[in-house]
Amino acid sequence: MKSFFGLSFLLLSSLTFAQSVWIVTDDIAFEKIDKHVVLSKQAFNKSNGRVLAQVDTAMIGMISHFMHADVQRCGGFFQFETRDEAEAFLQGSGLETVAEKAIFADYQIDQKETVEAMIAQVEAKNIEQTIRHLSSFHNRFYRAQTGVDSQTWVRNQWASLSSGRNDVTVEFFNHNSWIQPSVVMTVAGESPEVVVIGGHADSISGYFGSPTARAPGADDNASGIATITEVIRIMMASNYKPKKTIKFMGYAAEEVGLLGSKEIAQTYKRTNVPVVGVLQLDMTNFNGSRSQDITLITDYTNQQQNEFLAKLVDEYLQLSWGWDKCGYACSDHASWHAQGFPASTPFETKKNDMNRRIHTPQDLIEVSGGHANHAAKFAKLALAYLVELDR
Ligand code: BES
Ligand code: ZN
Repeated sequence: MKSFFGLSFLLLSSLTFAQSVWIVTDDIAFEKIDKHVVLSKQAFNKSNGRVLAQVDTAMIGMISHFMHADVQRCGGFFQFETRDEAEAFLQGSGLETVAEKAIFADYQIDQKETVEAMIAQVEAKNIEQTIRHLSSFHNRFYRAQTGVDSQTWVRNQWASLSSGRNDVTVEFFNHNSWIQPSVVMTVAGESPEVVVIGGHADSISGYFGSPTARAPGADDNASGIATITEVIRIMMASNYKPKKTIKFMGYAAEEVGLLGSKEIAQTYKRTNVPVVGVLQLDMTNFNGSRSQDITLITDYTNQQQNEFLAKLVDEYLQLSWGWDKCGYACSDHASWHAQGFPASTPFETKKNDMNRRIHTPQDLIEVSGGHANHAAKFAKLALAYLVELDR
């Protein structure tokens, strides 16, 4: 790769741009750009080790190529349409832009044998049973004893699936301001890099919720926790030993403002945990969009990781998928996003076709046909994500 760039492109320091974009990078990376891309580029605003530059659109592919080859890192620069957007990024904390635009991992797809052997083991019946058990708690509200009991059950389920593995721990993450804990299962890899697969384990009925209201939350979000539980079962049954550290999470108190995941993501940020991927599973079992199996949410998520998921669907599931927006910080992926981590959330329907029974006593598995065939697709996608990211 070096010799390719060593050819040195023609030194035409023209400052007219056919079409240009604005990039923000650091001085080390910009030195490389300066060396290799001598055509149509101009640096402005070099300060604090950060560089704002205008480059010809045609150069972007090449820049990202040698960022990988030479600078040895992914996503060493951020791209903007206008100078104003780039300046705003430089002034702000930049965390959300990093979360949206940076490349955190190598998104190659080449573990076909392992992935196919694992996704063949997904059983909708297991997911259905877990949904039924979770929705049998009166509710899983964050300030109700039943919301603590349900988390004890999740912790015990995950622990029993991993018994006999000394590289696995299952723990509560306790929160100071309410009684319901989050559940965190850690499968230790050799690498400190962390991949998180999570969903919220709480449920709510009514807008404000109450510790006494019936809230089965079968779709929102027993379905996500049950999907994750099936992923854990297969990972353990296959005796899969990850290279990266995998964390499965059942968040507390999502329904009252993403509180559990916010505290966890803030803690991980503060203690510099290198999270390179977050997959959020919130509502996986209501098959309400006839023309689309899987909807990838584009807001509060990471673009490159979303593209990776789309490719995984094509490669391993051969199902229909499409893009949509939540329109607001609708689930725990937004907590990770706010701290600069790359999150994605594959959703069960297009936003318009959503399950209208959520947050009511009627959020039962019967609304989804009394089975978990739709959720099974998400378990397969999560397994493919886990294995293909694990390098
Ligand atoms: N699962 C929902 C989010 C959702 C609902 C996504 C419908 C797509 C379609 C989540 O549990 C939820 O209810 N979120 C809250 C927001 C949160 C910040 C309290 C919501 O959507 O009102
Ligand atoms: Zn909800």
